[in-house]
Amino acid sequence: MTDSATRFVPAHPPRPETFGPWWSGFFGERARNSVAGWSKLAFEQWHVRRRMMRLVIHFPRHPDAVERVLLTNAANYQKPRIIKKLLMPMLGRGLLTADGELWRSQRKVVAPSFAPGAVARLAGTMAGAAERQMADWPTSGRIDIAHAATETTMRIIADALFSDDARLTTAEASRHITAALEAAGAARLSALFGLNPLPITRSVRVGQRGRRYLRETLTSIVRERGPEGGDDFLGGMIRDLNARFPPAEATMLAIDNAATFYLAGHETTANALAWAIYLLAGDQRAQDRARNEALAAVAGDPATLADRLPYLRQVLDETLRLYPPAPRFDREAVAADMLHGEPVGPGDLVSIWPWLIHRHRQLWDDADAFDPERFAPGREAARHRFQYIPFGAGPRTCVGARFAIVEALVILTHWLSARRFALVEGHTVELHGSVTLRPKGGLPVMVSAI
Ligand code: HEM
Repeated sequence: MTDSATRFVPAHPPRPETFGPWWSGFFGERARNSVAGWSKLAFEQWHVRRRMMRLVIHFPRHPDAVERVLLTNAANYQKPRIIKKLLMPMLGRGLLTADGELWRSQRKVVAPSFAPGAVARLAGTMAGAAERQMADWPTSGRIDIAHAATETTMRIIADALFSDDARLTTAEASRHITAALEAAGAARLSALFGLNPLPITRSVRVGQRGRRYLRETLTSIVRERGPEGGDDFLGGMIRDLNARFPPAEATMLAIDNAATFYLAGHETTANALAWAIYLLAGDQRAQDRARNEALAAVAGDPATLADRLPYLRQVLDETLRLYPPAPRFDREAVAADMLHGEPVGPGDLVSIWPWLIHRHRQLWDDADAFDPERFAPGREAARHRFQYIPFGAGPRTCVGARFAIVEALVILTHWLSARRFALVEGHTVELHGSVTLRPKGGLPVMVSAI
């Protein structure tokens, strides 16, 4: 482990002594930013239960409680109806929003495309996109790594899953997706209270336009393919859905899942990449070690690259701990239950926050410090399996986890092999929590030749 005096402690929002009253979530910074305003206690207590009008919300942080919700009693915890209602216009009844038999059938359809062998075959595509992105960078100067990461992962998802359809890679597409995600995050609180987000603010209107663009574009793409689909992820999915569902339903589900995978598949990894570069820019010793490993590995077969990067994998794991790209996810209890000694009623919401659990004082030493050694081989025995959940866990665990890990490792290897990264003096990094956790206003870093 690095000496604690020299460890890099990266940015996080200020922590007041107490959490504001429930209605403060509707106003000011807490309404705009889901990771703002959490008190010191939020990172020390095991369970908080809040009543918001008629709604009861639990925030369990003990890993035993998380394990019960996500694994041992997962059948009792469904995707909340209100969140489904919120996401339905964008994602329909696709994998992320479905429950029960509809979810199970869809998971069977897509799971083989994300198995390790299938992902390994995409590593060359990922490496090509990482290299192409660097063509725009100065040899020495300032770049926005968050923007670069989003462009790269967007190109990869369009290429790997949709055979590089140009309609999904334009700057316009990128703007629309960001706006649609932003509006979905902002609408969450109103959805919790059954209020519809009214088109009164500019960002809600822009978000709705973004959602329409995405749905219309993907509808055209799916309809043009026809029932035979074509020779890629989307094509395979169209054919498998047609084998299981009546034609009209299969087409709808293909569109819903195209939207689901396009959205879930690039913003999250883009954020992981940007945060990883930020952390390495703040810790030059870790960066040098990661670069040496990257330089030794980069020339070999891309299909096995991700398996030759043990230290970079530790860096990535630590990045996903400090900045979980999905900072929260929610469930609704079907029947009464107990979570680590706390009673939960039917209909209660259970909100799982990797953002809080990954920095919990009772679970992690020096929890806010960047220390990839936490994930060194052999150290996992000292951890509860459910105190580290960047990809969720149990049956609803992220189906794209392997894709994301390989993608992040391949891109980081190529970038680290070509450039040195440093923090921008005088720039304060701020966080913005919504559906995803991203750096507010981008993330400038300095690059130079190695
Ligand atoms: C670092 C990157 C990523 C992170 C941190 C992440 C995180 C997560 C989390 C936490 C969940 C579970 C949500 C819940 O239980 O409610 C999830 C589910 C999901 N993710 Fe990811 N994800 C990432 C990348 C990807 C990629 C690359 C894809 C696809 C290409 C993807 C597709 C999905 C889908 C479809 C689900 C729903 C699975 C189901 O319900 O069966 N994700 N992700």
